[in-house]
Amino acid sequence: MIKILVTGANGQLGSALQRIGKTKDYKFCFFDKNTWDISKREYPVLSGFNYIINCAAYTTVDKAESEQELAYLYNANALEYLSEFANENSAKLIHISSDYVYHNGLNGPLKESDPCTPQGIYAKSKLEGEKIVSLACQKYLIIRTSWVYGIEGHNFVKTMLRLAKNGNTIKVVGDQIGSPTFADDLAIQILNLINFDSQNVIQNNILNYSNEGVCSWYDFAHSIFKISHLDIPLIPIPTSDYPTPAQRPPYSVLDKSKIKNLLGNHYHNAHWEDSLRASLDILNKSL
Ligand SMILES: NC(=O)c1ccc[n+]([C@@H]2O[C@H](COP(=O)([O-])OP(=O)(O)OC[C@H]3O[C@@H](n4cnc5c(N)ncnc54)[C@H](OP(=O)(O)O)[C@@H]3O)[C@@H](O)[C@H]2O)c1
Repeated sequence: MIKILVTGANGQLGSALQRIGKTKDYKFCFFDKNTWDISKREYPVLSGFNYIINCAAYTTVDKAESEQELAYLYNANALEYLSEFANENSAKLIHISSDYVYHNGLNGPLKESDPCTPQGIYAKSKLEGEKIVSLACQKYLIIRTSWVYGIEGHNFVKTMLRLAKNGNTIKVVGDQIGSPTFADDLAIQILNLINFDSQNVIQNNILNYSNEGVCSWYDFAHSIFKISHLDIPLIPIPTSDYPTPAQRPPYSVLDKSKIKNLLGNHYHNAHWEDSLRASLDILNKSL
């Protein structure tokens, strides 16, 4: 049976993997920050596993601007230790990276081979982590994803639902374009890749993955309220009216041809609006 270790198990993606993993025929070992701090060169005493899925990361994008050292420690230096651990155990490291690594001024779907000119500390530390994995790790897959929201954790969808409770007008940036990704879909896709790779057929690689379709944050908010039957006054604003410590890429749509071609008939994905509907069904019941 395939044995999988998961770090950062209490984050959005880690939690989705815990839920979805229950329905799969794999043996999982989940570690949160208390049981395995990836920034320390102290590993769990375990062997015989095939994959490590690294869901642990420093993800507070704006705070990273004032906590540069921590962001690099978790998103870059830690990858040296995780790579070392994976190598010692002949396991494949599946590392999650970000659309923010591109930020290259291109205005068409971004390919894995496109230039990367990340702008903020978070984005730069994520690219540095990728470089370390690709140099230090013998077997790896790097998955670049975007606009992740899950049932668990903090995210844009929950923020919009919380703000809606006040009934006030909400202003949302309308000139940043990307693709939302439901954490459950990302978790399923990762397990799908592992299933496909069971004969070790996937070479070391970087793959883009997000839900299908394209929208702005304003469109995303609009759909959240429409699907939730909330009549909230919503206004699109330019990025310049919502300054943040870290710059966001204005265009962040990922080209998914590579993962589609790799998985062929095994590739399954959903449009972001369908996944949003599915997630809101679960979320609205639990709020
Ligand atoms: N969220 C997005 O929009 C987005 C977009 C693109 C890519 N990504 C990438 O996708 C991956 C998963 O993101 P996510 O949204 O699931 O993030 P998340 O919800 O913030 O989860 C990250 C988890 O990592 C844990 N963690 C932080 N430092 C750690 C350490 N030193 N050792 C062990 N665990 C540590 C955190 O624990 P604490 O909470 O206790 O610190 C948290 O549980 C990350 O690599 C992220 O960069 C996310």
